[in-house]
Amino acid sequence: MAQRVINFNPGPSALPLSVLEQAKSEMLDFQGSGMSVLETSHRAKNFEAVLDSAIQRIKRLLGLDDSYQVLFLQGGASMQFAMVPMNLAAGKPVDYVNTGIWATKAIKEARICGKQTRVVGSSEDAKFTHIPEKITINPDAAYLHITSNNTIRGTQWKSFPDAGAVPLVSDMSSDIFSRRFDPRPFGLIYAGAQKNLGPAGVTLVIIREDMLKRVPQDLPTMFKYSTYAENRSLYNTPPCFSIYVCELVLKWIEETIGGLDRMEKINEEKAAILYNYIDSQDFYRGTARPDSRSPMNVTFLLPEAELEKEFLAGAAQAGLIGLKGHRSVGGLRASIYNATTTESVKTLVDFMKHFAKR
Ligand SMILES: Cc1ncc(COP(=O)(O)O)c(C=O)c1O
Repeated sequence: MAQRVINFNPGPSALPLSVLEQAKSEMLDFQGSGMSVLETSHRAKNFEAVLDSAIQRIKRLLGLDDSYQVLFLQGGASMQFAMVPMNLAAGKPVDYVNTGIWATKAIKEARICGKQTRVVGSSEDAKFTHIPEKITINPDAAYLHITSNNTIRGTQWKSFPDAGAVPLVSDMSSDIFSRRFDPRPFGLIYAGAQKNLGPAGVTLVIIREDMLKRVPQDLPTMFKYSTYAENRSLYNTPPCFSIYVCELVLKWIEETIGGLDRMEKINEEKAAILYNYIDSQDFYRGTARPDSRSPMNVTFLLPEAELEKEFLAGAAQAGLIGLKGHRSVGGLRASIYNATTTESVKTLVDFMKHFAKR
């Protein structure tokens, strides 16, 4: 077998080994069709079955009732920064909580789209190292947008704001399928697949029926959520192979892991191993405020920034890769999404101990 590294990349990121092995085994002959999924028509029965299965698995895992539609789009989470205000503003102001770079980008796009955009909470003055505790709920808002997990600073909303009748919209790119939550307050959820769901190239959008009624008729076809909803994401050619791998990952969460509750427990255990070690010594320093710490992205600093290069080189030599912090903030970051095993996190902690001692 090929020599595999332990991959702490923030996205695209590690995929479950069994998923990669299945994709490999079906690469030349997908379900007896004599060809790869890469070569299969998106209108073929066997691809449609994959698409339907992915949708059903998402609905079961998240406990979505029939008022929700599951859509697959392209353009990444970044395209959703624009599509959300274009589709859902309905002539009202749109509210955002700013918890970091991705939220800032979402706010920027809402403004470019000409929407009255209000920032109703922010932790910018604390360099986004925590989730803001004070946010203003405006009953006249079209929606309240949050970013459930700040991939760059390593913070996460532990519970979601109660906005009353105002629907929540969330960018869940870096923590979807990592934990259970009540979907009912959400009018729309979006996530680039490339962290917890599958490979890059596909974006998951979960939209409630009442939100679909807001879609303006005069938007270009490909920018309307209703186009994807009315055509089961098959208005044009979808990213078939990415959707196929997502289906395998969803199957792995449901059938190998045993569902979201179990996934959440494993993620909590993994994060505790790393955070407990960081808290137990004074060489490494965690950068997120403890009450806002993300179980997906663990951010930390060394006593001196000059040591980072040495740390990263030593880690790479030990087969641990992807630990460099985001280019905008520096430091170190271990992304420990669903597919990262407890063993991998323990190996990282062992390396950190060894490096600190040296
Ligand atoms: C929370 C969050 N939102 C949005 C994005 C951007 O996603 P994409 O590259 O799919 O546009 C990222 C990428 O890392 C992210 O972490």
